[in-house]
Amino acid sequence: MEEQISQVRKDYLNKISGANSLKELDDIFLDLFGKSGEITLLPKEFSKLSPEEKQKIGPLFNQVKTELESAVEKKRGEVREAGYAKLSGEQSSIGEAVDIKPRKGRLHPITKLEQETIELFGKLGFQQVDAPHIDSDKLNFELLNIPEGHPARDLWDTFYLDPVNLGPQSGKMLLRTHTSNAQIRAMKELKTPIRVMNIGRCFRYENLDARHEHTFDQFELIYIDKHVNMTNLQFLSEYFLKSIFGLDIKVRMIPKYYPFVEPGAAVEGECIFCKGKGCKVCGKGWLELTGAGMIHPTVLKNGGIDPNVYSGIAWGFGIYRIALLKYGVPDVRLFNSGNLNFLENFS
Ligand code: DAH
Repeated sequence: MEEQISQVRKDYLNKISGANSLKELDDIFLDLFGKSGEITLLPKEFSKLSPEEKQKIGPLFNQVKTELESAVEKKRGEVREAGYAKLSGEQSSIGEAVDIKPRKGRLHPITKLEQETIELFGKLGFQQVDAPHIDSDKLNFELLNIPEGHPARDLWDTFYLDPVNLGPQSGKMLLRTHTSNAQIRAMKELKTPIRVMNIGRCFRYENLDARHEHTFDQFELIYIDKHVNMTNLQFLSEYFLKSIFGLDIKVRMIPKYYPFVEPGAAVEGECIFCKGKGCKVCGKGWLELTGAGMIHPTVLKNGGIDPNVYSGIAWGFGIYRIALLKYGVPDVRLFNSGNLNFLENFS
């Protein structure tokens, strides 16, 4: 019996030291300690032994069993370590073999267009102001002459915040639908004459298509002084669109209703894709580029400005819409897609 145990010990220590993979070690372990493994079956033969022999064999068996167990475990560790070393060797050789050029970062085309716009109007003396993305119903709608239940609200459906989370805030809160939410703030906080611009993220509950996104950027311009009139608006529209698209762009102004201006206008540019014929992007040959008008007397009053003394123009546009045309992009959703193949086209 003693010999048998020593033989098992010798054979398996050899096998263990010769193993090169975890799979081999698993097999060896099963051969020893599995249901019909050598170590598992050995004690069954102990009944044949005399009590003296048992006293000798018992401790020997236990010692060999423990020795084999730890030999398998130790070898497992060695095989794993060898595997890791091999892997890290492979990685470094990949790094050396492939010439990885560092990627050059660049500004998003929308950011670039925004910077260009800010610079253009900065030159005319317009100061940049900010307004919050989460705003009150009052500043986004009500004080801009769009009271609760007004049909024009359908154009600006948005995301409302759960009132339970608003704490001490007064009134209904929402994600702003336009940068026009800067109007009342500017009127209340600044002294006339007011010449400001507000640029940033806006949100709408939209059906998405090639021209509509739920999250987009807008630009708003407000100019309030004595004797401001529609010719100032005409000048600013042409100044901006010709600076962005070149002197050749065809631009037209048509009447359009916005509750916060009177009269209101839409400034349209001829579609560069179909040259005015009508296509998937523009629909009718012209793309509406900006909304504008003379600030409604009620809005001036809401901002604490006397409409009998002062007049003002408000002018706003979606940056993405301008970018579609400027860069010849057929689908507005590409801008927020995070698709590097698309974004890398803009140097
Ligand atoms: N806020 C308008 C929109 O989201 C754009 C706009 C139209 C801004 C007319 C103006 C304006 O300042 O006068 O569609």
